[in-house]
Amino acid sequence: MNVLGIETSCDETGVAVYSTGTGGGEPGLRAHAVYSQIALHAEYGGVVPELASRDHVRKLLPLIRQTLAESDLAVADIDGVAYTAGPGLVGALLVGAGVARSLAWALDVPAIGVHHMEGHLLAPLMEDASTRPPFVALLVSGGHTQLVAVEAIGRYRLLGETLDDAAGEAFDKTAKMMDLPYPGGPQLAALAEQGQPGRFKFARPMTDRPGLDFSFSGLKTQVLLAWRDSDRAAQTKADIARAFEDAVVDTLAIKCERALDATGFDTLVIAGGVGANKRLRAKLQALAERRGGRASFPRPMFCTDNGAMIAFAGALRLQAGQHGDASVRVTPRWDM
Ligand code: KG4
Ligand code: ZN
Repeated sequence: MNVLGIETSCDETGVAVYSTGTGGGEPGLRAHAVYSQIALHAEYGGVVPELASRDHVRKLLPLIRQTLAESDLAVADIDGVAYTAGPGLVGALLVGAGVARSLAWALDVPAIGVHHMEGHLLAPLMEDASTRPPFVALLVSGGHTQLVAVEAIGRYRLLGETLDDAAGEAFDKTAKMMDLPYPGGPQLAALAEQGQPGRFKFARPMTDRPGLDFSFSGLKTQVLLAWRDSDRAAQTKADIARAFEDAVVDTLAIKCERALDATGFDTLVIAGGVGANKRLRAKLQALAERRGGRASFPRPMFCTDNGAMIAFAGALRLQAGQHGDASVRVTPRWDM
């Protein structure tokens, strides 16, 4: 079964083909492509929803053609279509849903709307078939920070989440405060590489009490005050970036360890854009090893938004016989 995956929830147009291996052949990703709109939104310092929708309209069909060509498949070889149905920007989601449903209807194959965060959550399994539930998933993106107990595929229990900013959002807003170019998260992380650890020290929010929820907005204010009162030298900027990154990484690691203790699971899966952060990856890897368990991450390109994770999550659901009716519906706000 060859499943075409389409992701258009925000500012990345992602397309991929995943083959399940049923009916012969190796299971795996056949081809994938991502077109990022970063340059389009940079001058506004954030994603402009209407521009995002229009750019998805421009890029989606060429990207589908390109991906099919790279996978050596004809459009008639597609057995199912998966698309992100939410959460995300309504106009952007509707572009993907409209194209996916139309294509499925024309080809007379099933289509399925996938939850964007389920796509992120299952991406590590696409990358490494030996990672299987049960596990604790840390979902850290621009819109979400959640700890989820994954008892089985489709059986998710929310253990904790952010009460205000998501981890990626905190990275982006902090970067903006420090005048770093858009998009801030990866820029701040790159700057932190040059920073001296320990010169600045920020709190590890909500780690002094029990519980698995997060809060990152106070940390942002601490950085703002430190930056405002500093000499603003290049090294100081890097040192503050390093202290901020260390605070976020430590906080996430402390809560991951608590979640492993609470569930008794020994596998930790990390997904979402912030999962591309090198220091977070190293810290959680060390944590899992120290506990005699394992940590599983997708490659950085499959941590940030992509079509492959949607093709994979959709393939699992289509194989289980699930698919929606032909209507083009999206859910901009949607709990997993
Ligand atoms: O999953 P994603 O691509 O989009 C959402 O669904 O939100 O995540 C994007 C988020 C952004 O906030 C971005 O700043 C953050 O992930 N991010 C990073 C890094 N790479 C991306 N944050 C910290 N370090 C990174 N290396
Ligand atoms: Zn995402």
